[in-house]
Amino acid sequence: MASDLSAANSVPAAEQQWPWWPLLPLYPYGRRRSLVRCLIPGQIWSVEQLQGVYYVAVPIRMSVVRIRHGLMLYAPVAPTREVRQAIAELEREHGPVRTIVLPTTSGLEHKLPLPPLARAFPEAEVWISPGQWSFPLPLPEAWQGIPRQRTRVLGEEGWPHPDELTWCDLGPLQLGLGRFHECSCLHRDSGALLLVDGLVGLEATPPQLFDLDPTPLLFHARERGEQPLQDGVEQRRRGWARLVLFANYLRPAPLDVRGAAGVLAGSFRRGVRRAEAHFGLYPFAWQEGWQIEAEALMGGDAPRLQVAPVLERLVFPRARRTYLRWLEELERLPGLRWLVPAHYSAPIACSSEMLAGFRQRLEGRTWAPSDGSWAFLAGLDQGLLNLGLVPKDPEPAG
Ligand SMILES: [Fe+2]
Repeated sequence: MASDLSAANSVPAAEQQWPWWPLLPLYPYGRRRSLVRCLIPGQIWSVEQLQGVYYVAVPIRMSVVRIRHGLMLYAPVAPTREVRQAIAELEREHGPVRTIVLPTTSGLEHKLPLPPLARAFPEAEVWISPGQWSFPLPLPEAWQGIPRQRTRVLGEEGWPHPDELTWCDLGPLQLGLGRFHECSCLHRDSGALLLVDGLVGLEATPPQLFDLDPTPLLFHARERGEQPLQDGVEQRRRGWARLVLFANYLRPAPLDVRGAAGVLAGSFRRGVRRAEAHFGLYPFAWQEGWQIEAEALMGGDAPRLQVAPVLERLVFPRARRTYLRWLEELERLPGLRWLVPAHYSAPIACSSEMLAGFRQRLEGRTWAPSDGSWAFLAGLDQGLLNLGLVPKDPEPAG
């Protein structure tokens, strides 16, 4: 059902410039290639960009939603000239951007693009999730570049388009350093539930976005730094499976991190003396069994529904009840047909029964485990607990 609306690799670099990248200096830095595609014909489109550290890059998504008399942008991404042109094309057909929604309190990757996106659409009303915070300094919203005079707070000052959208909250959850709060909404015309991080779907096929630049996949498909980057279907799938393990567990169990001698041994060899190959520096050694670990997260051809381990173990380890209640709320949404999260696969075919089955499986297994690939995340959580930076009991009573 998806059809590609972007001009892919033919887009000049100048159209993909993102000058604000030093605020969150992540790969691919100042050049953001974007994939714009239709998710649900005439109703929902996706603008996808890569973001990550050291080629551990995962797609982030802004959804463009058709509402009466115009469009709504949900979960901002970098509004490069390429992105603005793609939206302008949709505006010509469906009407102007009327609403921009920042549906997350913690997602910097969506927060930082909000001010320039709001400036690009000066007539649009801006809605933000409540309790916005900035780190390390608690800056007032005006200083963060949010246009206060046309900005409203979700829930506290109403909801945008309540006659077309049904809103549900995941959170708020006090995390010590800041708070987690995500506002999802069901677009009733299409039956699509727009989400941020709360639920994702993972599949073995690499996202189409990597067709614009497969370097991160090919980089991680190798076993050693001195191996040149080679392109092929198998390499892309292997690289993607490893990125999924990195992004979900940060340091999965079947991964050894090499010492300096091991890293330098493979560097500056012929074939890898290029910045693209990081001059042969590759500090990872994948151990036997990594494929099984990756397969457990990803579906085959259809996306596997997940609460991302990094979210479960670092945000919700002591807030299982809050998470399950949110799922129950989603199950009650009438006419639910699709999930459109801000990461990974979309649209994911869904129904109340599917969500109920997913919730029951969660209830039947250990929540936020600490063994195997979860150990590194568990160690981080324990460290933050010991320092008193995260609360022991973040859930409101009741
Ligand atoms: Fe996210």
